[in-house]
This record gives sequence, C-alpha cells and structure tokens, in this order.
Amino acid sequence: MLDMQGITKRFGGLTAVDNVSLKVRQGEIVGLIGPNGAGKTTFFNILTGIYKPDAGTIAFEGREIQGLRPFRIARCGIARTFQNIRLLKEETVLDNVKVGMFHKTGTGLWASILGLRSARDEERRVTEESLRMLETVGLAGCEHEQAGNLSYGSQRRVEIARALVSRPKLLLLDEPTAGMNAEEVREMTALIRRIREQGTTVILIEHNVSMVVGLCDRIAVLDHGVKIADDVPEAVVSHPAVIEAYIGKEEGEEVASGAAH
Ligand SMILES: Nc1ncnc2c1ncn2[C@@H]1O[C@H](COP(=O)(O)OP(=O)(O)OP(=O)(O)O)[C@@H](O)[C@H]1O
Ligand SMILES: [Mg+2]
Repeated sequence: MLDMQGITKRFGGLTAVDNVSLKVRQGEIVGLIGPNGAGKTTFFNILTGIYKPDAGTIAFEGREIQGLRPFRIARCGIARTFQNIRLLKEETVLDNVKVGMFHKTGTGLWASILGLRSARDEERRVTEESLRMLETVGLAGCEHEQAGNLSYGSQRRVEIARALVSRPKLLLLDEPTAGMNAEEVREMTALIRRIREQGTTVILIEHNVSMVVGLCDRIAVLDHGVKIADDVPEAVVSHPAVIEAYIGKEEGEEVASGAAH
C-alpha cells in the first residue's frame, strides 16, 4: 500500500530523517519508535505533505505522492492525528470532527451560504457520519460538549474521530497514548485494533514500548534520523542496536521484558 524509499529531510545542518525506507502492507499496524528527536514526527510530516523531502519517493497505492500539498495527500486517503493535540478548543466536539470531512465535501461556499438543498443534504450527511465516528471512538453523547473541556485522553479520541470521518485508507497516529493512564492505554489499544478490523491500515508513533509490542505487526526504529531496525516486535526488542542505541542501558531490560507481554 505504501512504499517510501530513501526519504531524507534536512533542517539546516541537521539531518532529521536520513535515507529512510519503509513499506507498509494493507491491513498492517506498524509501529514507529525511537528516542526523542529521532525524526518520527518529521517522517509523518513528510508523508502528509507538511514538509517536502530533500530526497526520496513515496508511492501510495502505486501513485507517487511526495511533494504534493497536504489536502491532496489527504484526498488520497491518508489521515493523521497530531502529537500536540490540535483541536478548536472553544468549539463543540461535533464541529471538531466535522472539520475532518472538509477536504471531501463537494459543496461550494455559495451553495452553503444560499442554503441550497444540496448543501443541507451534505451537512446532514457530514453530521451523521461524524456522530457515527464519535460512537466508534467511545464518545457517543459528548458531541455538544466544548472540546477544550474534555479530558486529555478524550481529546485524543476526538482527534482520531476527526481523522476517521474522512474514511482514510491509512491512519497515522502520533503518540496517541501520551499522557494517558493504564486504563486509557488499554482502551486506546482496543480502539486501534477495531480501526484496523474495519479496514484501515495504521502507522503508530509511540513511546509506550509494551503497548507497541502487543499491538503492532511490525516495528520500525529510528535513531538520529536513521532506521536501525524494522522487524516483528519480538525481534526488534531484542535487537542489540535497538537496545543500545535507542533504549540505553538501564531501560534495555524493561524493553526486553516488554516482549513477554
Ligand atoms: N521545523 C523544524 N525546523 C528545524 N528543526 C526541526 C524541525 N522539525 C523538527 N526538527 C528537528 O528534527 C529532529 C527530529 O524531530 P522530530 O520532531 O521529528 O522527532 P521525534 O522523533 O518526533 O521526537 P519526539 O519523540 O520528541 O516527538 C529534532 O532534532 C528536531 O529538533
Ligand atoms: Mg514527535
């Protein structure tokens, strides 16, 4: 489904992503891990068109998409959430989710202003779909709340609903469990499984190693912009380069034990 080859991104003298290749098959859940500053978010930013790569190609379903504008890439069926939650905090939960359909709705501005029937039908369809997605992420009944009033974990789920409402083929999650307690992490894990079961392929950036190990079919590891491992979870967590370069000495044991979960 996705074939990224030789992706490189430099910021001045810093090579944030260094000749990284990654292939993802339809239906996979792929983990992307690595220490702070390893280049994980930059990799997502390149894939979603926020940054143009300095080198490399990205084929999505056989079509080259590197360097396309973000809304064009979104239209291809790639959606994401953000490491730093980006919600309109003053707006309702429902309106935040509806924003995710924006690039897909065919109704023009004038049709909306004039209140044409086509615009009203479209609006109803978007609302229904958004409510369905809120139910999927476990937020049924919260649609009229102000987004900023929800707990941190729930705000992350609103972001996921916003990404899902466009029915993406590929969903990119940037640290979906950041700041969550153990129970919320379990719920998020179950939600990601459900999303995959409904046919969406997932790439997931995570610092919670036992969660990625339990959830992912495959894990790629970045360190200083370089991909140092890409394998099934059991192999990745016992990979010497991963334990040494990414985890460091003391935490290495913790990661090795994560393989047992
Ligand atoms: N717009 C930018 N301009 C300059 N440097 C940047 C920019 N974006 C990222 N970087 C740098 O690129 C490197 C990779 O950053 P990135 O945010 O991709 O890391 P990360 O793996 O997502 O880290 P974290 O786990 O902390 O989120 C870092 O050194 C960062 O400071
Ligand atoms: Mg990041």
